[in-house]
Amino acid sequence: MDISQPTVLSAADALALRYGPDAVPAAGPWNETIGLLLSHRSVRGYRPDALPAGTLETLIAAAQSAATSSNLQTWSVIAVTDPAKKAELAKLANNQKHIEQCPLFLVWLADIARNQRMGAEEGVALEVMPYQETFLVAAIDAALAAQNAVVAAESLGLSTVYIGALRNHPLEVAKVVDLPSGTFGVFGMCVGYAAAPAEVKPRLPQDVVLHHERYDSTGEQAHRAAYDAVMTQFSARNEMAADTWTKRVIGRMSKLSALSGRDKLVAALNALGFELK
Ligand SMILES: Cc1cc2nc3c(=O)[nH]c(=O)nc-3n(C[C@H](O)[C@H](O)[C@H](O)COP(=O)(O)O)c2cc1C
Repeated sequence: MDISQPTVLSAADALALRYGPDAVPAAGPWNETIGLLLSHRSVRGYRPDALPAGTLETLIAAAQSAATSSNLQTWSVIAVTDPAKKAELAKLANNQKHIEQCPLFLVWLADIARNQRMGAEEGVALEVMPYQETFLVAAIDAALAAQNAVVAAESLGLSTVYIGALRNHPLEVAKVVDLPSGTFGVFGMCVGYAAAPAEVKPRLPQDVVLHHERYDSTGEQAHRAAYDAVMTQFSARNEMAADTWTKRVIGRMSKLSALSGRDKLVAALNALGFELK
């Protein structure tokens, strides 16, 4: 089996790729949609090929079909194709080259500016606006919409990668795409045709994340050790260093510098019109 080719796999093969051969969960119901979801991989190298006409609108229709809290629809998205603008955004997002390479870069927004405008137009003060809950709702809405777009893109043979590094410089990003107060770039997303096949990245064994009736972390250490072994092999095949997952997570979470400026996110959000009471 060629693990790097996004082909239609059997349930057993898809589960083995997702979890590694020793942690495959029991097979259950299966269909093409589930097969597509399990074959997801982020792609960080793109061909310059343009997307077929109408692709953006299809992705957005999929995104708008996601559930949205109270049907508030507190998100928006900015489609960026201008090379100069993509270059600016790439610079702000830790110089990630795929932002410039991909034909379409999407900036997903938590957007309560529309509600602010509605309130003003209707002459009603919206008391919930300054609360953290309102920001959280908007960020969740944006994430659900974006993930629907990812699934739609992958179903069309396209690839994607989220760009959380857009939050390294939220105020500067806001300037590049003219964001009004009450909007925030939660993350970006590259969309395009993969320059090279990518391998499915295994996930933690289900026993670690799936709890029944009550939270239970029994056995977690052993499962983590097993996952570390799987991920060491994955990173040896795919990444610069053959590290364990534990080492990477600890590295990512033990130093404030790893937040790349996002430790100041609350101040940035305040400046962008989210009071976060
Ligand atoms: C919100 C979010 C932000 C992310 N930001 C970045 C990013 O800035 N750069 C990047 O290369 N990958 C980014 N990723 C991709 C993750 O690294 C990737 O999903 C994870 O390693 C699992 O790999 P997979 O998507 O191939 O299964 C992000 C993913 C999410 C969900």
